[in-house]
Amino acid sequence: MNTDRRLFVCVNQKSGVGEAVAKALKKEVKHQGLKKQVVDGHKQRTQIQTCDCLDLCRQCKKGHGAALIVYPEGTVYGNVRPADAAELVAEHLGRGHALKRLLIDE
Ligand code: FES
Repeated sequence: MNTDRRLFVCVNQKSGVGEAVAKALKKEVKHQGLKKQVVDGHKQRTQIQTCDCLDLCRQCKKGHGAALIVYPEGTVYGNVRPADAAELVAEHLGRGHALKRLLIDE
């Protein structure tokens, strides 16, 4: 069973914030030791990937941050900034709880 986790970060903003968010998330995943975990007896890797558009543009182009989706959960976050990376990684990937203040319901 593949339980790998992927975070897709939109980089389709003119500001380039999505690239900075992806970079910050990668750094935090490594820093917090969450790149490889064992969850319920299964090895789980976490990968941060960039993508062009998640069709969540209201969350990307009006705010100062980027939209992203965490799979396999399908959790959607909006207006994520590089400064949110540590908290998002610790809360969602580390503790397994969604970071409520950045959640969006599209
Ligand atoms: S521009 Fe980011 S979701 Fe569309």
